[in-house]
Amino acid sequence: MTENTNESTGLREQVRARYAQAATAVKTGTRNADLLVEDQCCGSSCCGGAPADRDETERAEASCCESSCCGDTATERSFGAGLYDLADAEGLPIEAIEASLGCGNPTAVAELREGERVLDLGSGGGIDVLLSAKRVGPTGFAYGVDMTDEMLELAEANKAKAELANVEFLKGTIEDVPLPDGAVDVVISNCVINLSVDKPAVLAEMFRVLTPGGRIGVSDVVAEDHLTGEQRAERGSYVGCIAGALSRSEYLDGLTAVGFTDTSVEFTHEAADGMHAAIVRATKPTA
Ligand SMILES: C[S@@+](CC[C@H](N)C(=O)[O-])C[C@H]1O[C@@H](n2cnc3c(N)ncnc32)[C@H](O)[C@@H]1O
Repeated sequence: MTENTNESTGLREQVRARYAQAATAVKTGTRNADLLVEDQCCGSSCCGGAPADRDETERAEASCCESSCCGDTATERSFGAGLYDLADAEGLPIEAIEASLGCGNPTAVAELREGERVLDLGSGGGIDVLLSAKRVGPTGFAYGVDMTDEMLELAEANKAKAELANVEFLKGTIEDVPLPDGAVDVVISNCVINLSVDKPAVLAEMFRVLTPGGRIGVSDVVAEDHLTGEQRAERGSYVGCIAGALSRSEYLDGLTAVGFTDTSVEFTHEAADGMHAAIVRATKPTA
């Protein structure tokens, strides 16, 4: 959490501007040229994976298959469309796949079931919301919340192309989610909580919007406990999903403080020295 309000507002504006630029680059087919590897939660753009002049199939294959194998650094290999199974992404708009800026595959982590209501915090171009909608089927529903207008426009366009009726994208912040208490069965998120300037508020909102017995399945960047805030910042930028990461203990303590049980943080792959993409799980008690 950042104590200083001006500093928090400035950081949030930097985040918004960064991801507005990312959304615009996907829409205009200039993502590779526009984004700098060291300044983003990156992905296929790291390696020139999906230029706009390829056809849809070539671009989907490039986004899903090349990105995970072409980066020279841990950071380049740790984010984006390469973390998804191509079979799962089949039928999704190429722009949703190209816009993927996450560090995991939370729809798989959350083991979504038919009929469930799902909320994705920081839904970006919508890939995890659309995948969730497919998994929960017509009797379930998938919401996405994002604060960046350009990302919401991209997500709405992707929803229209995917022709999924059980999807809604909401404008808002993940610190003040525009849904009532107990509205969903599952909260997912993909590489967004590290970007929040008020992480305790995000964890409290996840708890509030979940129905009793509900669960979270989150992918995020998490630091090893021995790294100070300064050392995390030396390893990467705030908008690039590194400097703002919680440590494993900070995550577990924060989840417990707002009421979650069965909490766990599992490191999956290194994103920077001592910093890992991780799967975060927890449950809201039934009573
Ligand atoms: C790294 S991108 C990840 C997008 C998406 N989850 C994915 O996997 O592709 C971060 C997204 O979170 C959004 N975001 C960041 N901080 C936010 C906040 N405090 N409230 C709402 N959205 C936020 C940004 O606008 C951006 O779309």
